[in-house]
Amino acid sequence: MKTKSKVIVICTLAAATLGFGIVSSCNSTPISEVEEAVIGILNQKGCIACHSFNPEIPFYAKFPLIGKVIKEDMHKAARFVTLDPIDTTVTSVDEVTLAKIEQSIISGSMPPASYTHVYWRSKISKAEKQTVLAWVNDTRKNRFYDGIASEEFALEPIRPIPDSIPVNAEKTALGKDMYNDTRISLDNTVSCATCHILSEGGADHADERTSEGIYGQKGGVNSPTVYNAVFQIRQFWNGRAANLAEQAGQPPVNPVEMGEQTWEMIVGRLREDKDLAARFEKLYPGEGLTEATVCDAIAEYEKTLLTPDSPFDRYLKGDKSALTQEQLDGYKAFRESDCASCHSGILVGGASFEYLGIVDESYFDSRDKSIEYVSDDDGLKGFTLKERDLHRFKVPTLRNVALTPPYFHDGTIQTLEEATEAMMKYQTGTKADAATIASIVTFLETLNGEIPQVSP
Ligand code: HEC
Ligand code: HEC
Ligand code: HEC
Repeated sequence: MKTKSKVIVICTLAAATLGFGIVSSCNSTPISEVEEAVIGILNQKGCIACHSFNPEIPFYAKFPLIGKVIKEDMHKAARFVTLDPIDTTVTSVDEVTLAKIEQSIISGSMPPASYTHVYWRSKISKAEKQTVLAWVNDTRKNRFYDGIASEEFALEPIRPIPDSIPVNAEKTALGKDMYNDTRISLDNTVSCATCHILSEGGADHADERTSEGIYGQKGGVNSPTVYNAVFQIRQFWNGRAANLAEQAGQPPVNPVEMGEQTWEMIVGRLREDKDLAARFEKLYPGEGLTEATVCDAIAEYEKTLLTPDSPFDRYLKGDKSALTQEQLDGYKAFRESDCASCHSGILVGGASFEYLGIVDESYFDSRDKSIEYVSDDDGLKGFTLKERDLHRFKVPTLRNVALTPPYFHDGTIQTLEEATEAMMKYQTGTKADAATIASIVTFLETLNGEIPQVSP
């Protein structure tokens, strides 16, 4: 870890550079010289000015000659990445933001040409580029590299899945039983495993656009996989559960999924099974079988649903023969098409909420009209109630993605080729020729890991 020698109050620096008070928080944590340099660069180049939702930011208002193009850019920019406040964005950068900054600096796309034409001093010099990329590499090595990939791949934006994480084995056994227990549903027909089928990639059947719950009722979104879900930033397409235990509390009392019932009713039914109640009492002394302990046990079990050692992970771990040249080319195409700026980290996704239609906002207008717009289509807004979160969705993991069609939150996309093409249209604006798409799909297929032994 680089020593953090200096302590500076960044807010004054930011305000001085741009000439007005824009930074919403002052930070006095120690920062390294590299970080200080990067903060300076990102400030000077206008990165923060464009990439903020802060209402005080639109400084173009003070520049009457700024073109319409730049104003439109500013409206768009914060949707791509938020860099405000810049100091904490740099000092405690998350993996996705890091990948995005890296991508924009490598490709030379930022600041946009429309802006550097007007403010030529905002163009990033070669030396500045090197400073930022050195910081990206340092940060990856020091903060995110966990030693699972071979050192040679310590700087890749994707990290391998660990073989296991620490669990309480007795609780996982109990949680497994609860996961498969249909008694949790009102009419004894539905369990977690009904919609998250472990032999089908941990998601629903491929022919189910959205899941079928109790009494044959259809939900509003496609069932995501439970495999590796423990690593996600939050749970659900709209992030309304903070973690697995909180997530597990919801389907049982969802009228469409497991029935119109309360947890009191569920716990009451389950406690009639004296053996089950005794197992809970033993593992959760003093608490016994409750909503909290049922959810905790299920969450503990889900921590064992990991799929390590996909061909791509084996490659990252140092087995050069794990991938063919075609598959490596596919990874290159994936990187060059800007996919890794959202699909990175251990899950190749699962770490941020992004707008569906970030480049081209016509997704819902172009969707098959026979599919009704439902509240689930609002995305993150449905949870935060903030207008600006409309159509933001948790980026799905691409782990085992070849096993879990159909795709997207609405399950309207059937194949990985179609998904990739749609991503290029709506998310990246990159060239969608058939050869590149096929190549990327070749890479996506290397993300299928070892499915844990599933006993019924
Ligand atoms: C004049 C406003 C403006 C400035 C200044 C600006 N950006 Fe952007 N940025 C945008 C817009 C608009 C987009 C959306 C993509 C596009 O239209 O090119 C974007 C997209 C991005 C993206 C995501 C897409 C990509 O290219 O990877 C990143 C990351 C990014 N900017 C980082 C930066 C950084 C870092 C800086 C400073 C070096 C910066 N931006 C400066 C407006 C700006
Ligand atoms: C009727 C089908 C159905 C049942 C039963 C069901 N789920 Fe789900 N599950 C879904 C759907 C659909 C989603 C996505 C819902 C959303 O995001 O709004 C989901 C989301 C999840 C997620 C979040 C994954 C992610 O990527 O965000 C986890 C974890 C999960 N379910 C586990 C469980 C557990 C544990 C149970 C049993 C207590 C269960 N599910 C019962 C259909 C079901
Ligand atoms: C700006 C962020 C962003 C970028 C860049 C991006 N994606 Fe996505 N990706 C998403 C989001 C958000 C979704 C979920 C959309 C939905 O469900 O409605 C998604 C969904 C997907 C899915 C469907 C997964 C599933 O289980 O439903 C695939 C496959 C995919 N992306 C591949 C790619 C590829 C390939 C690229 C590069 C061409 C790419 N993505 C670029 C954000 C992004």
